[in-house]
Amino acid sequence: MRFPNFLLLSLVLTSLSAAAQQPVAHLKIDAANIVRHASPRMYGLMTEEINHSYEGGLYAELLSNDTFRGNWMSIAQWSLVLKGDAAATSSLDPKDGPSTALPQSLELKVSSASPASPAGLSNPGYWGIAVRSHTAYTGSFYAEANPAIGPVTISLIANQTGAVLATTQVALTGNGWRRYAFQLHSGQTESSAENHFELTVAHPGTMHLQLVTLFPPTFDDQPNGNRQDLMEKLAAMHPNFIRLPGGNYLEGNTIKERFDWEKTIGPLVDRPGHQGPWGYWSTDQFGLLEFLEWTQELHVEPVLAVYAGYSLKGEHVTPGPDLEPYVQSALDEVEYLTGDANTHWGAERARDGHPAPFPLHYIEIGNEDWFDRSGSYPARFAQFAQALRKKYPQYKLIATAPIPEDSTKPGDAPDLVDDHYYKSPEQMFALVHHYDAAPRTGPKVFVGEWATVSATPTPDFGDALGDAAWMTGMERNSDLIKMASYAPLLVNVRNAAWRTNLIGYDALSSYGSPSYYAQCLFAAHMGDAIPQSTLTGINPSARFFYSITESRQERVLHLKLVNATTLAQPLQLALQGAGSGAHVATVYSLHGATFAATNTLQNPQAIHPVQSTLHFTGTVLTHTVPALTIEVIDLPLQ
Ligand code: AHR
Repeated sequence: MRFPNFLLLSLVLTSLSAAAQQPVAHLKIDAANIVRHASPRMYGLMTEEINHSYEGGLYAELLSNDTFRGNWMSIAQWSLVLKGDAAATSSLDPKDGPSTALPQSLELKVSSASPASPAGLSNPGYWGIAVRSHTAYTGSFYAEANPAIGPVTISLIANQTGAVLATTQVALTGNGWRRYAFQLHSGQTESSAENHFELTVAHPGTMHLQLVTLFPPTFDDQPNGNRQDLMEKLAAMHPNFIRLPGGNYLEGNTIKERFDWEKTIGPLVDRPGHQGPWGYWSTDQFGLLEFLEWTQELHVEPVLAVYAGYSLKGEHVTPGPDLEPYVQSALDEVEYLTGDANTHWGAERARDGHPAPFPLHYIEIGNEDWFDRSGSYPARFAQFAQALRKKYPQYKLIATAPIPEDSTKPGDAPDLVDDHYYKSPEQMFALVHHYDAAPRTGPKVFVGEWATVSATPTPDFGDALGDAAWMTGMERNSDLIKMASYAPLLVNVRNAAWRTNLIGYDALSSYGSPSYYAQCLFAAHMGDAIPQSTLTGINPSARFFYSITESRQERVLHLKLVNATTLAQPLQLALQGAGSGAHVATVYSLHGATFAATNTLQNPQAIHPVQSTLHFTGTVLTHTVPALTIEVIDLPLQ
């Protein structure tokens, strides 16, 4: 039998629409029956110097290798500029620098130069230097030179055209090492990162240079501050804390390469820098105080991780007398954060420009110490815990691996244990109920690193579904899970050392991944209690997840729904405890057409939250969650 074409089409459409949704499921919520407390301060941030998160990322410094680290062939990132018939050479002078911390410098020997044929150096920034219209750039450099070689001309130049986008001159004022500051102003120009920096002189002579810096306007106009677009994105995540300074970055590959906080504070010229574990050198210009000022700018608290005597390549410090200097260093670090100006380290912080102590409630001892196969962690943890609790009984201590009960004295047990999860979307869906039956008698949980990991450099919508599903599980168990932070947070897309990272950027612009938007929504709509609820009519193997928390004071339910299937899911909601009148709920919806759909630098808003309202009367409402959709619904109870 033959059907006419229009009939065939309508048969296909009818069968598709019949199959396009699941049977109705029933979600009953009893707002008055609170079964667990929730942690309203659960969501926070975690990153470290990875993927050029700070240098070439959050930290707004525009010049790369500003302390002239040499590599096997030259001085990375710096090239000679010779205009007209100028002649010069540059090399590393390992024995002449402005400070003990920076004992080396770049030596520029100019044999021929004139105002018409200047000689000098150029720097490409971190894969470009963003220049925008009518913008002020501030910078400085240390120089040791005969003033006759000057003045020094500083410019921002367009790579393709050679156009001078901003320029200024600095007169040299003496022979010994001195610091010179300058400002540059761009004129009318199209925003672009295809630019470089030049520093040139107009006369023959020799000049030594060190610590050449250049900053655009920073967030809140802070000197030595942070990139505006990234800070705005972080603020929109509504974080409660920042876990700092790592991660593997805390531990270093070796004990020598650990985050040795004392060497990361004070004037930049007194910071030697250190080799980070993610393949590049850290100048430590984004050091401990900059981490803390970052928390202050976001109005959040630090969760301070202290180095605990284990490094990535397996070195560990034997508990006992050998560990004592590290324990003392942790005590000093806490004093640097929290001590008043009468304490040794509090006074040091005041000298560094921050008289007010920082708030602190949590201290983490180490990072991922389950990797320490020597079995030394329980004893190392106990030694740190005893010393910290003696001097600072008010702080909660976080262990990075379970501490067997029989290996601690009473009072040494951790308050929280830090669990980490990096999983594929399927594994994340399967883990959603992981904590539902976990014992409530031991330490609380800090999920200090978690992420659905498949796409690169940032999560696609499939990863966002995995992340949102996992967040429903954390919220349902937020009587146990006190805090959680996705990792890593930041990636310069030109250098992704880690596969999946939340926020991507290059020198010019940035974007939030679908997962970023899911986290913004979940964190902005989190209650302080978990009401009793039941969901029926869903196939247990279906990838459909939910959580419900309640803001008791505001009398609002925050319902999170994750439909990771390709079928719409109709729901009938029964809200026991809601008033009998008319209600307007607010729906925030995030949808992707496929698991592979994503945001990029070129298409930053392909997937973004869409807000709508839902009107209902009394205690019952129906609502359909579209296929491949994450929703957050604020349901008013009155
Ligand atoms: O987030 C990236 C790395 O993953 C962290 O540095 C480490 O703690 C974990 O193994």
